[in-house]
Amino acid sequence: MSKFWSPFVKNLVPYVPGEQPKLSRLVKLNTNENPYGPSPKAIAAMQAELNDSLRLYPDPNGERLKQAIADYYGVQSRQVFVGNGSDEVLAHIFHGLFQHGRPLLFPDVTYSFYPVYCGLYGIPFEVVALDEQFRIRVEDYQRPNGGIIFPNPNAPTGCLLPLEAIERLLKANPDSVVVVDEAYVDFGGATAITLVDRYPNLLVTQTLSKSRSLAGMRVGLAVGHPELIEALERIKNSFNSYPLDRMAIVGAAAAFEDRAYFEQTCRQVIASREQLVSELQRLGFEVLPSAANFVFARHPGRDAEGLAAGLREQGVIVRHFKQERIRQFLRITIGTLEQNQALIDVLAPLC
Ligand SMILES: Cc1ncc(COP(=O)(O)O)c(C=O)c1O
Repeated sequence: MSKFWSPFVKNLVPYVPGEQPKLSRLVKLNTNENPYGPSPKAIAAMQAELNDSLRLYPDPNGERLKQAIADYYGVQSRQVFVGNGSDEVLAHIFHGLFQHGRPLLFPDVTYSFYPVYCGLYGIPFEVVALDEQFRIRVEDYQRPNGGIIFPNPNAPTGCLLPLEAIERLLKANPDSVVVVDEAYVDFGGATAITLVDRYPNLLVTQTLSKSRSLAGMRVGLAVGHPELIEALERIKNSFNSYPLDRMAIVGAAAAFEDRAYFEQTCRQVIASREQLVSELQRLGFEVLPSAANFVFARHPGRDAEGLAAGLREQGVIVRHFKQERIRQFLRITIGTLEQNQALIDVLAPLC
């Protein structure tokens, strides 16, 4: 700590992202990236933007992208917010919509950035335990709160909450903002964006880092009632007017417009997941039902941390969390069929 720090910085507990190793020959299954590249149309759009216009600031509103998202989901562009990755969108949500003095509610096993934002913005929170099968029980969220947030499918479990349960949650909490973080929804879930016109307290976030394979461009979004979006715009315009650069705006818009490529690559990831699940089960793993581009699995007879270390020694990296309830699980990103096979080849002798 330095005397120059603002005092609260001393107590910050920052998020720790999954490793981005420098070695190139690794089978990298640790941060839920897409094994297939971005849409060729997105790449072409970004290449076309690499020109003299870069001397000019981008559109602070990212209107071209907002419109592409609005068209895709059949909403209005004033119901759409865009930001530098959904992490930034989430940060603005915590800052602008969750500071009510009452505790924010989220699951005990979930995206580990949520408590970090609470620390950053001084938001009290309570964790709500998932049930024995690691599923969200919406009845447990009927208690005083200053907001509710959870990923759907949840991370790192991959478990999906049906839209009907989300509607029950929204109806039971009409005075709270309910945020559904749909980072992984395209790999097996139905989006709650179809509910935003009926529930003014619903905000849905998504990212282009996973199903649209643009993790390196940093683009995320939120869809909800214009009044919720307005709060986010106010925060954004008090923080950074240009969170998305010129290439991100055109590349992300083109990615939304190229439905065929998106649907085909999502189908490939899902097929690859189903195959990996059977292979893992054959090795004796218990695998939670996944609607995401990763699986969460434990072996009854092998220590997860040891397995992760053994895999790493042979160039395969997966994610292990040293956290209560999930210490014996590995989170494995779905790779190509070849990457999955490389994982199984290394894992089999360790089991
Ligand atoms: C549940 C969840 N939400 C949000 C994010 C953030 O994604 P990004 O900032 O790349 O949009 C992640 C990233 O892994 C995630 O797992």
